[in-house]
Amino acid sequence: MNDFRPVHESRIEISELMIPSYANFGGKVHGGYILSLMDKIAYACATRHARNYCVTASVDTVDFRHPIEVGSLVRMYASVNYVGNTSMEVGIRTESHNIRTGEFTHTNTSYFTMVAIGENGKKTLVPGLILEEKNDVRRFLEGRERKRLKREYGRARANLKSDFQIELAIKELQNERCEVAWNHNA
Ligand SMILES: CC(C)(COP(=O)(O)OP(=O)(O)OC[C@H]1O[C@@H](n2cnc3c(N)ncnc32)[C@H](O)[C@@H]1OP(=O)(O)O)[C@@H](O)C(=O)NCCC(=O)NCCS
Repeated sequence: MNDFRPVHESRIEISELMIPSYANFGGKVHGGYILSLMDKIAYACATRHARNYCVTASVDTVDFRHPIEVGSLVRMYASVNYVGNTSMEVGIRTESHNIRTGEFTHTNTSYFTMVAIGENGKKTLVPGLILEEKNDVRRFLEGRERKRLKREYGRARANLKSDFQIELAIKELQNERCEVAWNHNA
């Protein structure tokens, strides 16, 4: 496939009013509800670009910078930042809009990696991306860098498990706020 599609063709924007049934025990909007909305918009954006069914392979860190109030209007903007072979990075910016005061708050930005699945149920190549604006170029390079860092992080995590030695670990814990109650000399 030698197909390229512009970023704007798959860009998606949604708005949803935060109703009381979305609240957590603290009276703010439940983070899980926001994650679910983000997953839906990531799916829609990726599928629009790939024109194939897509699955969520990974979600980059989700930092909630501010709580979202019940009664506010949540807006999400999603676009494909980067494409590899079968995967795409979808960037999602979430804002909450206080519809009484008109104030906008940027609550978080997250990155979803979506993989396209063909009719045969196997991963399939996604179209290339046409970068039409300066920001598209910046986001593509940032997405590529996040993919590289994620691979490095994956390797470091794998070593974390295989390098574990209990004696060294106990020494490392001496200045931490924990007690090792297990008698490792027994
Ligand atoms: C996502 C999935 C299709 C990847 O399959 P796989 O055989 O492990 O894929 P590969 O290692 O060949 O990677 C395929 C692409 O996905 C990317 N990828 C795979 N896992 C990834 C991860 N955890 N983070 C970021 N990218 C990932 C790879 O970099 C590769 O990208 P490229 O083709 O653009 O270079 C498979 O793991 C899967 O089906 N997972 C379940 C998805 C799902 O059900 N999601 C909903 C959860 S409720």
